[in-house]
Amino acid sequence: MADGEAIMLPPPDLTGSNTLEKALAERRSVRTYADEPLDMNDLSQLLWGTQGVTDPRGFRTAPSAGAQYPLEVTVAVGRVEGLSPGSYRYIPATHQIRKIHDGDQRERLSAAAFSQQMPADAPVTFVISGIYERTRTRYGERAEQYTWMEAGHASQNCYLIATARGLGTVAIGAFDDKAVVEIIGLPDDEIPLYLMPVGKRL
Ligand SMILES: Cc1cc2nc3c(=O)[nH]c(=O)nc-3n(C[C@H](O)[C@H](O)[C@H](O)COP(=O)(O)O)c2cc1C
Repeated sequence: MADGEAIMLPPPDLTGSNTLEKALAERRSVRTYADEPLDMNDLSQLLWGTQGVTDPRGFRTAPSAGAQYPLEVTVAVGRVEGLSPGSYRYIPATHQIRKIHDGDQRERLSAAAFSQQMPADAPVTFVISGIYERTRTRYGERAEQYTWMEAGHASQNCYLIATARGLGTVAIGAFDDKAVVEIIGLPDDEIPLYLMPVGKRL
C-alpha cells in the first residue's frame, strides 16, 4: 500500500461539442488502442462521467438505489501524463484521486482477466467495484443486485464519455476476482465488478 496525497483533477468540461445521440450511435466496445498516453483532462472527464458528483446534495452522474452509493472507482494507471504508474482511488466528493498502490500493474491485470490483452495495452484501466454493505443496510438481500445494476450505469457512462472524446473502452466482466483485488490493492469488503481499459482509438 502507498497511500498518497490527494491529487486535484482538472474540473470536468461540461461544454463538450458532441451530442449524446452521436456518442450513443458511435459507442462500440474497443479492444485495440493507439500507443499513446492519456492526459489528466481525459482522466478527469472519464472519472467524472463514471461517478462524479453533480449536486450539492451529493447526487452523482449515475443513479444509485436510495442514494447509498455502493460503487468505488479505482484507476490502474500505466501511461497517464503527470501521474506515476500505480492504482489511484477516485474521491467523488472533491473530484480528487489518491494513490493506494504503486507500480504499473497492466500486465498482471491482463493475466487476471484470463489473458485478455486489453488491460496490458491500454494506458489506463478503470476498476469499478462495489461494497454491498452500503446498500444492504437499507435494502437487505437486494443489495447485491442493486450494486450490479449500478455498475452497469457507471460503465455505460464511462463508455459514452470515452466515445465522445475519441477514446475507446470495453466492459470486461471475465476476470479472477481475488487476483484483481490483490493487484489493485482493494479493501476486503470490496468486490470488483468491471474492468474498463481505456485508450485512444486507432
Ligand atoms: C456483463 C458484460 C461482460 C462483458 N465481458 C467482456 C469481456 O470479458 N471481454 C470482452 O472483450 N468484452 C466483454 N464485454 C463486451 C461485449 O462483448 C460487447 O458489449 C458485445 O460484444 C457487444 O458489442 P458492443 O459493446 O460493441 O456493442 C462484456 C459486456 C458485458 C455487458
